[in-house]
Amino acid sequence: MSRWLEAKVIENRHWTPALFSLRVEAPALAFAAGQFVRIALDEVTGDAGSRVARAFSFVNPPRDPVLEFYGVVVPEGPLSPRLAKLEAGDILFVADNPSGFLVLDEVPQAEDLWLVSTGTGIAPFLSILRSDACWSRYRRVILVHGVRHAPELVYRELIDGIRRERGADFRYVPLVSRERAPGALEGRIPAAIGDGRLEATAIPIRPDSQFMLCGNPDMLRDVQAALGARGLRKHRRRAPGQITVESFW
Ligand SMILES: Cc1cc2nc3c(=O)[nH]c(=O)nc-3n(C[C@H](O)[C@H](O)[C@H](O)COP(=O)(O)OP(=O)(O)OC[C@H]3O[C@@H](n4cnc5c(N)ncnc54)[C@H](O)[C@@H]3O)c2cc1C
Ligand SMILES: NC(=O)c1ccc[n+]([C@@H]2O[C@H](COP(=O)([O-])OP(=O)(O)OC[C@H]3O[C@@H](n4cnc5c(N)ncnc54)[C@H](OP(=O)(O)O)[C@@H]3O)[C@@H](O)[C@H]2O)c1
Repeated sequence: MSRWLEAKVIENRHWTPALFSLRVEAPALAFAAGQFVRIALDEVTGDAGSRVARAFSFVNPPRDPVLEFYGVVVPEGPLSPRLAKLEAGDILFVADNPSGFLVLDEVPQAEDLWLVSTGTGIAPFLSILRSDACWSRYRRVILVHGVRHAPELVYRELIDGIRRERGADFRYVPLVSRERAPGALEGRIPAAIGDGRLEATAIPIRPDSQFMLCGNPDMLRDVQAALGARGLRKHRRRAPGQITVESFW
């Protein structure tokens, strides 16, 4: 059983009308980069029976005392529109038992680590990219982020900072599917794997490259099929492979 902890919003940054990042002050939580935790609000203030909880990935690395979550407003969803409206000083609840298997401990060592995301699926990779293990266990790390529109290519300052620090060991490949955007590939990630544009922009996919995928379940399916055509398969503890996935819905 988990317990609920009270957390105080420090900042709610709005990237676009639909995209927001919450920074919250909460009691210390033990978690690994890439994990998620349930966060919640009460429908009726003070009535824990009306609590609505959803999983959110940590954006912050574990050492950071402030927790950060990155979200999108799903207009018909019960929780995300309310999270988007939170302001500094507001209270939300955070469960005390982070979990999840999208962590480097579950991923075999390799030369190259590909972190492939759509939409808010970039969140756990922003935590992983700031963990020491990411850089001690992999020589090169490639962050791929697919979004609908260019303004959804968020966290650019953070990504630019990693680029400056890591040089050629780090590649960032943005894709925009619903408009043309300078500096970004056009379309969806599976198509860019299939026609060679992703590798031409980043580096060649090797038979032992490790892939972590996160975000839209249809993207997870289609990217696994595209990588499957290249001989890569899902990683399991009993049957090692190259692909580790986390679906957001
Ligand atoms: C392990 C895990 C980690 C997650 N981490 C995050 C995170 O870091 N950030 C985040 O925004 N969401 C994350 N989610 C999704 C999150 O838990 C909620 O589903 C989401 O915030 C919407 O909540 P809701 O109550 O408004 O709608 P819900 O009733 O939960 O969802 C309604 C519908 O919205 C769509 N949807 C849900 N989540 C998303 C999304 N993230 N992007 C696009 N469409 C979506 C799906 O079609 C879903 O059926 C995660 C989910 C899982 C399982
Ligand atoms: N994004 C926003 O600014 C925004 C605004 C208002 C509301 N919302 C709500 O948020 C939800 C969707 O959010 P989202 O845009 O972050 O997530 P999304 O629908 O998962 O789209 C993110 C990216 O994933 C791509 N994608 C979808 N299916 C794919 C597949 N099979 N293979 C590879 N790539 C695939 C999309 O391409 P395509 O464009 O080709 O589908 C898009 O580039 C919806 O509920 C929507 O109503 C979002």
